Amino acid sequence: MKRMILALGLALTGPAMAETVNGLKTADEFEGIENEAERSVAVFQEVFKVIESPRCLNCHPKGDTPLQGDDMQQHMPPVQRGAADFGAPGMYCTTCHGSANVAYTSGKGSIPGHSPWQLAPVEMAWVGLSVGEVCEQLKDPARNGDRDLDEIHEHMAEDGLVGWGWHPGDGRTPAPGTQEVLGDLVQAWIDTGAICPQG
Ligand code: HEC
Ligand code: HEC
Repeated sequence: MKRMILALGLALTGPAMAETVNGLKTADEFEGIENEAERSVAVFQEVFKVIESPRCLNCHPKGDTPLQGDDMQQHMPPVQRGAADFGAPGMYCTTCHGSANVAYTSGKGSIPGHSPWQLAPVEMAWVGLSVGEVCEQLKDPARNGDRDLDEIHEHMAEDGLVGWGWHPGDGRTPAPGTQEVLGDLVQAWIDTGAICPQG
């Protein structure tokens, strides 16, 4: 029922009024929040909807093994991150993961692929962190690959592995929104002082 009313609302107001793209609010949706710090926090909550997608978390795990699938199971086989987050000798990520997704010949599901394909370093692990903890970590050069905020924006908006989250191959739900909407949200968060939610 709720869905029907929503659909009706969209039909009446037209696409120009639709400010949610694939389940993610666009940055201008937050312009009504007058207090800049409050707006910054609200925008980051929206960014977090992408970050907590299995498409991102599966590659930003806490331990030494990637996760897989929408239900974030342990990766089968239980491969190890290895010294360079690229697998152990003899079992590198690229032993199985190519430069593009490959559909199973059975016609159901796929092996994800992109070049490069490797685990995020453990200091960039997100699984189990709260929204506030992820936010503080993202801003910390010691744990974000020595990036300033502009470089964090660039990575979110342009990086190919991040972009894979919206083209994950058959059998996986894409991350919410689009990479472009995510990039705009991250910019809006930075422009409002990059304030982190509490907790
Ligand atoms: C196949 C694995 C993989 C996937 C999938 C992946 N990442 Fe990453 N991510 C990495 C690696 C590897 C790095 C480290 C690269 C570097 O520092 O240049 C990284 C680093 C990052 C960074 C910069 C450092 C930091 O943590 O502050 C951000 C931001 C990021 N990823 C966002 C995302 C988002 C958002 C998604 C999902 C839409 C995602 N990633 C999906 C592997 C992945
Ligand atoms: C022996 C082959 C093999 C190796 C080696 C391997 N993978 Fe995988 N991986 C797979 C297969 C097959 C899947 C798809 C499983 C499925 O969902 O059907 C997969 C899925 C994944 C996923 C899940 C994507 C998602 O969002 O559902 C991630 C992340 C991943 N692998 C990362 C890695 C990383 C990082 C390495 C190296 C440390 C690695 N894999 C090494 C075979 C492998």
